[in-house]
Amino acid sequence: MDKLVKMALESISISKPGIVQLICCSRIVDPLDANRLEQHIEDILQHGQAENSRLEITGALLTDRASFVQVLEGPITPIESMYSKLLADERHYGNELLLYVGTHVRLFPRSALAFVEVDHIPGVAQLNSRSTPLDRRRAYLSVMAALRPLLLG
Ligand SMILES: Cc1cc2nc3c(=O)[nH]c(=O)nc-3n(C[C@H](O)[C@H](O)[C@H](O)COP(=O)(O)O)c2cc1C
Repeated sequence: MDKLVKMALESISISKPGIVQLICCSRIVDPLDANRLEQHIEDILQHGQAENSRLEITGALLTDRASFVQVLEGPITPIESMYSKLLADERHYGNELLLYVGTHVRLFPRSALAFVEVDHIPGVAQLNSRSTPLDRRRAYLSVMAALRPLLLG
């Protein structure tokens, strides 16, 4: 087999059926307190990486320091219970679900919880319960654009 084709195939991890992918976004509580935010991010990553590995969850945490975007992928039961925990977490609020689908392919097969920081994620901070499906779709597209360097790397 052509070496390039082989490399491309190896970089795609086909996961077992029953995997779901969930992408949600939320607003950071008190974003101007940089020290507090730093501590929150460190705690979330440390706890999340250990816990996600244990539960066969992979994913990423993306932030522009005003919003969080979380990608979670894995077996349905742990993903749904993790999402309930996320909704109850007081370090953020205004959680909006951008995507919840079944899939066979993980976007982050090698990362329990990758971390990406960007300047701005257009359309995400403005989302609220009155946003239209088109607003949510636009926000989803801007999240995927922000994650692109990580996905290609
Ligand atoms: C934006 C955000 C993303 C988070 N992502 C994860 C995660 O991927 N995995 C995880 O275990 N906890 C994550 N957490 C922490 C959970 O909300 C919750 O605090 C933690 O799972 C509680 O764990 P426990 O019930 O075992 O004490 C996140 C919190 C926030 C605010």
